Amino acid sequence: MLATIDSAALLGIAAEPVQIEVNAGESGDPRLVLVGLPDAAVKESEDRVHSALNNSGFEMPLTRMTINLAPADVRKEGPLYDLPIALGILIATEQLTPVRKPHDYLIAGELGLSGMTRPIKGALAMAQLARKLGKTGLLLPPRSAEEAALVEGVRVYRVESLDQAHRFLTGETDLLPVRPGTERIANDPATGDFSEIKGQHSLRRAVEVAVAGNHNLLMIGPPGAGKSMIAKRIASIMPAPILDEHLEILSIHSAAGRTITGDAPWGTRPFRSPHHTISDVGLLGGGAIPGPGEISLAHHGVLFLDELPEFKRSALEVLRQPLEDGHVTISRSAGKVTLPCAFMLVAAMNPCPCGYLGDTKRECRCAPAQIQRYRARISGPLLDRIDIHIDAPALSIGDLRSAKPGEDSATMRERIAAARQHQQHRFASTGVGSNARMTHAQIRKHCQIDTALGDLLQQAMEQLSLSARAYDRILKVARTIADLAGAEHIASPHLLEAIQYRSLDRKLFY
Ligand SMILES: Nc1ncnc2c1ncn2[C@@H]1O[C@H](COP(=O)(O)OP(=O)(O)OP(=O)(O)O)[C@@H](O)[C@H]1O
Ligand SMILES: [Mg+2]
Repeated sequence: MLATIDSAALLGIAAEPVQIEVNAGESGDPRLVLVGLPDAAVKESEDRVHSALNNSGFEMPLTRMTINLAPADVRKEGPLYDLPIALGILIATEQLTPVRKPHDYLIAGELGLSGMTRPIKGALAMAQLARKLGKTGLLLPPRSAEEAALVEGVRVYRVESLDQAHRFLTGETDLLPVRPGTERIANDPATGDFSEIKGQHSLRRAVEVAVAGNHNLLMIGPPGAGKSMIAKRIASIMPAPILDEHLEILSIHSAAGRTITGDAPWGTRPFRSPHHTISDVGLLGGGAIPGPGEISLAHHGVLFLDELPEFKRSALEVLRQPLEDGHVTISRSAGKVTLPCAFMLVAAMNPCPCGYLGDTKRECRCAPAQIQRYRARISGPLLDRIDIHIDAPALSIGDLRSAKPGEDSATMRERIAAARQHQQHRFASTGVGSNARMTHAQIRKHCQIDTALGDLLQQAMEQLSLSARAYDRILKVARTIADLAGAEHIASPHLLEAIQYRSLDRKLFY
């Protein structure tokens, strides 16, 4: 008898339909033939399914059986087909007579040897697919089910074992759909608080402006200035993501298998800080079946590149396009996928290889050629995409001891949230979320300056020999500074502050 079960494959962060066909009772040696481009994990699934069936009180048939995962041209990966294969075998061998129609459900899940189900990657994307296909619901393992339940308009049933799934389909058991938002506790990333940072007023201000408008930020300063310390606290001043953003964040982390390990940011924005030895694929995304890289995992949050010049130049260069577009396209033999990556870039570096160039207390020992080589690792076009460059001077021990604790993260977050509200209002239903992502036309519309300010900006641009891209970027930052001040129009203090954030790289890099 032939049985078919509907499941899905994950490509990038989206799911595509996969049908599992099981044909039992064929003549020939009693064995199981798996076809339809299965990778190693799907083949291993044969062993797990075998033992899960036995341990759940079912029997593996003593005839030849063919299992086809269709369509053949979709690459399939991972153990998520265990449960649908097992159910298909049960139906094909008449050990299961479904009362509920299997086709009304999208089914996926890994099976343990005992027959218990285990969570899988990409449940959120599968729920979106099930809704699109007009399915009644999904059968998913615990944890994956709670995750999928975030998608509205489709019922998600949590099945804990093969036996439970069997009883659900035969109508012996009723299951209540998982209610969204249950059993989830927002995880507190315990990143520390801005109140722990002493002094550094101008640095704190620059960080606040950057976060308020989602502008990219580069901190340059000697060792021990607190750059890494500040960067790690940036997530603590970001307003919580709105529902749509949260779903986008989770679907990326779900596709990377991070939601089931409990590592995904629930209710908070992601903060990713890859090590500088990271590969281009690790950063951008990719793999045989393209999956998200660090820049996508940082979507709607922060990508922190500490010790920026230590990153491979090739890795930094590939960042240029995604930085501009907010998405990245990866082509592989398995297909082309586009992944979102609207992150805020935060980078930190020393001014020279020894780190002490320009420091008032310690002398720099680097030769000019060394300094030049060090800085040349970061290209002009990349720097051009960073709106805010800020000097991070080291505090003396005396300063550190005497300085009062700074403002806490909650207070900063409140001001930032207010500034972001202006932006949400301004860009309502345009698909743009922040000042940093304004289009050219939006800049013309929302960043109007009078002739006197125009002259001022032109003069600064000429003096600093800035590019046309920098012109737009200065206006965007000025808009954010005006938003923080609650001002409707950009005024000269706003513009001057924005220009100042573009002066440091001119001094250091040219
Ligand atoms: N402004 C500050 N307030 C409180 N502590 C500070 C401050 N600046 C530095 N420190 C102390 O110095 C330590 C080192 O800071 P951090 O690692 O952030 O430096 P860094 O600028 O990243 O240096 P490097 O360039 O070597 O990476 C911190 O863990 C903290 O204890
Ligand atoms: Mg550091």
